[in-house]
Amino acid sequence: MMINQAIHDLEKNGFTIIDDFLTGEELTLIQKDYLDLRNEGKFKRAGIGKGSDLHLNDQVRSDETYWLDSLALNSSQQTLWNKLELLKQELNQGFYLGLWDFEAHYSYYPIGGLYQAHLDRFSKDDARTISMVLYLNDEWALSNGGELRIHQKDPSLPPMDVVPTGGKLVCFFSAEILHEVLPAKKPRMGFAGWWKRR
Ligand code: OGA
Ligand code: MN
Repeated sequence: MMINQAIHDLEKNGFTIIDDFLTGEELTLIQKDYLDLRNEGKFKRAGIGKGSDLHLNDQVRSDETYWLDSLALNSSQQTLWNKLELLKQELNQGFYLGLWDFEAHYSYYPIGGLYQAHLDRFSKDDARTISMVLYLNDEWALSNGGELRIHQKDPSLPPMDVVPTGGKLVCFFSAEILHEVLPAKKPRMGFAGWWKRR
């Protein structure tokens, strides 16, 4: 993992992309866990906002999610958690952020699914500090769409469209980076998480 590069990118641009965060074996392990949970019907339509602000809206967001339980991880999930814990330590050393808690869900975007431009930080709760998304698709053709569109902090730069290829990880500052999921022509699988400050 090119951690130094990641810290440098985050500092400069507010986001970073790590192409092969997962090895092929790790990706297979997590994909299997994901598909098992989907087959068991554990995914639910995602809401927008938090608490009493929570609502469903197809126009804004159309993914289904499964929130992982950090106190009851199976061995595949634990493998991923351990890897992300190491990344968290690097981020804390790089930025003195005091990242502590982590929350995460698997996500499934059906064909045509999208998530309109948004920030990941809630208006009433500013704990979310660094967001991460990890893609669990196999190969992903450009013609499938479904890119993660990252709006640059520097408005003179064009947005960056990230292809959701399996094993790729994207990290960004939750309060700073406006981002959206473009509609896809194939179901789109991922894992999204947030490191929070105490
Ligand atoms: C999110 C999100 C991006 C993606 O879940 O908040 O922005 O590429 N996901 O799945
Ligand atoms: Mn988001």
